[in-house]
Amino acid sequence: MNINDNFKEISVYELENTHKLIGKDWMLITAADGDGANAMTASWGALGELWGAHVAICFVRPQRYTYELMEKQDRVSLAFLDEDHRDSLNVCGTLSGRNGDKLSKAGLTVSDADGVPVINEARITVICKKLYADDLKEECFVDQSLLKNYQNKDYHRVYVLKIEKVLVRK
Ligand SMILES: Cc1cc2nc3c(=O)[nH]c(=O)nc-3n(C[C@H](O)[C@H](O)[C@H](O)COP(=O)(O)O)c2cc1C
Repeated sequence: MNINDNFKEISVYELENTHKLIGKDWMLITAADGDGANAMTASWGALGELWGAHVAICFVRPQRYTYELMEKQDRVSLAFLDEDHRDSLNVCGTLSGRNGDKLSKAGLTVSDADGVPVINEARITVICKKLYADDLKEECFVDQSLLKNYQNKDYHRVYVLKIEKVLVRK
């Protein structure tokens, strides 16, 4: 599929409420995996401004296969889907790409957009380039009650990604 046939570029300023997009709709973080791709559901993150750039911030636990892939790749995409695809998001948020191709199980397909895998079924696609990565640290939690999220000390790696392009379905 040629991505330009189905999607058109918009400005970040035209994006709808990002709290809803990430926290309620959820997103798929999609990264290249050899000749194919893997996607992981995420509902923690942010879209905002940093270092004079439009950025996306993602939080990925070290045991995710996506973590391994994001460490290898310079660029990834974020996909926001319609409510009709909630089952697909649950599949990508439950199965690991480490154990096989979950995208087909989720009924999702992938195209190449400027060298980055993107989800064809997405309503909104954000193409991103890694700028910064670091791990959350136990001693840096000002509110130590949040450590209940890390019973296994599996602190998220924070990725700050530069937003290169926002595409919406035509
Ligand atoms: C609604 C939802 C939100 C999630 N958000 C995140 C997240 O923000 N960060 C994270 O590391 N895992 C998150 N997960 C868990 C991963 O999606 C899940 O572990 C997935 O199977 C990892 O896939 P992978 O091993 O192919 O990367 C979430 C799961 C669900 C269902």
